[in-house]
Amino acid sequence: MEIQLWREILAPYSLAVDELVVKFNHIIEEYRQVKAYSPIELVTGRVKTISSILEKAQKKNIHLDDIEEKIDDIAGIRIICQFVEDIYKVVDIIRQRSDMQIKNETDYIQNMKESGYRSYHMTVYYNVETLKGTRKLQVEIQIRTLAMNFWATIEHSLQYKYKQNMPRHIRERLSSAAEAVLILDQEMSVVRDEIMDAQNSFTVKANIVADILNNIQNLYKVANKQEVIKIQDEFFRIYQVGDREELEKFSNDLDLISQRYRAQSLR
Ligand code: GTP
Ligand code: MG
Repeated sequence: MEIQLWREILAPYSLAVDELVVKFNHIIEEYRQVKAYSPIELVTGRVKTISSILEKAQKKNIHLDDIEEKIDDIAGIRIICQFVEDIYKVVDIIRQRSDMQIKNETDYIQNMKESGYRSYHMTVYYNVETLKGTRKLQVEIQIRTLAMNFWATIEHSLQYKYKQNMPRHIRERLSSAAEAVLILDQEMSVVRDEIMDAQNSFTVKANIVADILNNIQNLYKVANKQEVIKIQDEFFRIYQVGDREELEKFSNDLDLISQRYRAQSLR
């Protein structure tokens, strides 16, 4: 096939990759804007080279006319996450999008490949607009942690170096490296839970404090000033030295006091 024809075939795929990279980066941006943790760390994309399309077609006995249908990774997006949990969050995000229609999914994390490869794969249909009209294209999305990506990158270059003849001792090394990566991801998950716990308890504490301040402010309108000042001093003391439970108890007591005043003012 002529180079020019290949360029025409590949151009819409290049558009799909560009658009999707922008869209996934915007997801990161949306999280950033609300100061929330983004499950996506990094996004990359590529269009398969002509030579590796030809190589794959030959290997899999695919006729040139069937390439677009049967090679599902002409357009490829890679989403890198910090933690394994984030991967499933990203999968959910993709499932809910109206601009990507899922063709199939493979979870190589629950079902690690023989090689030790782990990643979550999704093949989606994605529409791009061209001068010739709408084109519905297949895009392969690989979602993996930083650690999984590290392993896959090294393994891929060794595969490339040795083709079918990777020495046994290197294969074994890669296998134990895959095991180490699995453990690393598990260890990181434990840390992640702690980070999330800390963030969560921070939010809870902030909400309690907001409640208390709101109550004190309202008490100024209805209660004896001396009493409110006493309450306020007590709050500052607990805020400085107390733990969350103490703050919670104080907040509940304050609720009761406020209710009492509200009941009085209704009389
Ligand atoms: P192909 O698409 O022909 O590769 O096979 P498939 O349709 O069965 O897809 P599969 O999900 O096995 O692999 C798709 C892509 O995942 C590959 O092109 C690689 O990028 C990646 N991948 C799969 N297995 C491995 C592996 O053992 N090592 C590495 N480094 N990458 C892999
Ligand atoms: Mg494939």
